[in-house]
Formats: sequence, structure tokens, C-alpha cells
Amino acid sequence: MSKKILVTQSSMPTIEEYIEEIKPIFANKWLTNMGEKHKKLESNLKEYLGVKNISLYTNGHNALYIAIKSFDFPDGSEVITTPYSFSSTTHAIVQNNLKPVFCDINEEDYTIDVNKIEKLINEKTVAILPVHVYGHVCDVEKIDEIAKKHNLKVIYDCAHVFGVKYKGTSIANYGDISMFSFHATKVFNTIEGGALVYKDDTKKIGLERLKNFGINGAECVDMVGTNAKMNEFCAAMGICNLRHIDDEIKKREKVYNRYLERLDGIDGITVSKVQNNIIPNFAYFPIIFNKEIFGKSRDDVKKELEKENIYTRKYFYPLISDYECYRDNYDSNETPIAKRISNNVLTIPMYADLSLEDVDKICDIILKK
Ligand SMILES: Cc1ncc(COP(=O)(O)O)c(C=O)c1O
Repeated sequence: MSKKILVTQSSMPTIEEYIEEIKPIFANKWLTNMGEKHKKLESNLKEYLGVKNISLYTNGHNALYIAIKSFDFPDGSEVITTPYSFSSTTHAIVQNNLKPVFCDINEEDYTIDVNKIEKLINEKTVAILPVHVYGHVCDVEKIDEIAKKHNLKVIYDCAHVFGVKYKGTSIANYGDISMFSFHATKVFNTIEGGALVYKDDTKKIGLERLKNFGINGAECVDMVGTNAKMNEFCAAMGICNLRHIDDEIKKREKVYNRYLERLDGIDGITVSKVQNNIIPNFAYFPIIFNKEIFGKSRDDVKKELEKENIYTRKYFYPLISDYECYRDNYDSNETPIAKRISNNVLTIPMYADLSLEDVDKICDIILKK
């Protein structure tokens, strides 16, 4: 059997570098609750991303949950988002007792179709929660314009866009608040982890308190908070990984370019191009298959690759509106583009250490007639 190639592989420092970073934790025995490593990672990330405020969390999902909670929207308010995302995006809305309203995506980059947002807005709408899928950037300017016109908050799911810049500035500088995931499979990881980035200084106290049970001093708890504090070992992994992030993204670019050389322009398959005005992070390599033209469906290709021990992901399938826990309340046919893309998408292996020989092998199998 040929060697196993997974859809992703986590970036890690050398064991020596990590040990060096965690030695002080063994000396001071401070394992969590915003210790030295936590502070250092926050400060390094602020500098790397070029942002004013950042708060760290156990994972992206808890960060998103807290981001939404911090606005204190009335129960039952509506939040416009897309069904073409990871479960976390919609779950975080529902867990805040709010109602997700699904907007379709556009064909070009699979982000929210800004021309379809306004007709979903009503007196209950309080926010838009767009997702920068695969590292593709949403139409942030139009979203900002719509939000201002209707007095809505904008909460970005930035789980896929770590390090991405739009018009020379970090993508995290758009909207009211942005959530990053630092999960092991992401371009930048802290094993598990996440962050919120926001411009409004006054939000800091609430966002920090909500991750620590709402505790405000030794004898006061004034918010119904949760526990979402990043621990010191995760923060140390982040400090190490951040030292190498630019090299990791450059290595991903090589993989991306080889995929593009081999797969772009083939009839019946659509690959993603780097958008205008973007410094990309090459987070994923999604392909959309058109069986009528290409001759093989996404499921055919997935199976052929699996026979060779190569693992891909139907990311995102099913649509969130088709999940068992949501489908009684939604009709996924109302977002036809998202439905079609979801039925035909396959993300193929993409990570910094994927060799070009392996990329060629994957492309040979995809293109085999
Ligand atoms: C689009 C999107 N949103 C939210 C999340 C949740 O992040 P985490 O896994 O760090 O909780 C993820 C990743 O898992 C994601 O891909």
C-alpha cells in the first residue's frame, strides 16, 4: 500500500524549539489563566496581524460564541449568515438564542452574495456573520455599506484567513469583530485555540470576562460567562509556530502553484484563483467538479484517491441547512448556489510539507480518464 496522504498535516516547530519555549512553565508552574505565554502570544499576534486589540480563547468556536454574546442581542433576533461553512458558524448563533437566516453564496469565491443580503433584512435583524471561506475574502466594503445603512453589527468568521491581507491591511481590521481559529488543521495553530480581534477598546473587558466565568475580581461575578481560556502549553505552541508562519505560507504557495499548473483550465473542473488586492494564505485547495463535462463526479474522484491511500474532504458538505438538527426549519433549495457547490466540492490535500511529487501523483489520479 502506498503511503497515506491526509487532507492536511499540522505545522509544528521542532521538539527542541517547543521544549525551550515550555521550560519556564515547568519552573513557574503557571499552567493557565492568562500566564506569561498567553501574554506573549497576544502581543506577538497583535504585531504580526497589525491589529489594535486581540483576546485569546480555547478555540475558535468559543471565541465566536463569546463574540456574539458580547453584543447582548435580544433573544430571537436574526443574524444573516451562509449555510456554506463549518457547523461552528451557525451553532454559535443558535447557542446565543438567535435565529440564523441563510443567504446564498456567490459562484466566484463561495463567500456571501452581497446582492442577496438586503432582501433578508427585517426589523429583527441585528447582525451579519459572513465567512471568509478557504482564505477567500468577502466583499468587505459592500458588507460594511449595508451594515451601516441598516445599523447592523458585522461579525466575521475569519477561521480560514489567518495572515491574509486585503488592500495592504490585515483582513481582521474589517467589521466590528473578527474570529480566528487556531485549530491544529489551520494555517496557524496553537493545537486548539482561537482569537477575537476588534477595534473598539471598550469591548475588551467584556470579551475577557466572558471567557473566565464572568468573574470580575475576587468577590464579584457580574456576567454569565463560560470557560474559554487558552492554556500556557497551547500559547507556547503558538509562539513557536508564529516564528515560522511566513515560511509555512511560502511552502503552501509552492503546492498551490503546482496544483494550478496541473489543474487550471481543464474542462469540467473549477479551481480557485487568488483574488484581486489580496495577499493570500493558500489555506485550502477546493475543486468544483462538473460530471457532465469532466466525466467524473466529486465522489468518483474521492473514491479513486482513497484507493491510493489519499484522503480528501467534502468541505463543506452537507450544507448546514441540511443538517439533521436544522433541516426541519430550513429549505436548502433557497440557497441554490451553495447547494450546487456543496454537492460538487472536494478539498484536496494542502499543507506546507506536501511534496511536489505527491501533488503530481494526486493530479495524475484526478485527471486519469
Ligand atoms: C469556518 C470555520 N468556522 C469556525 C471554526 C471553528 O473553529 P475551532 O475548530 O477552532 O473551534 C472552524 C474550524 O474548525 C471553521 O473552519
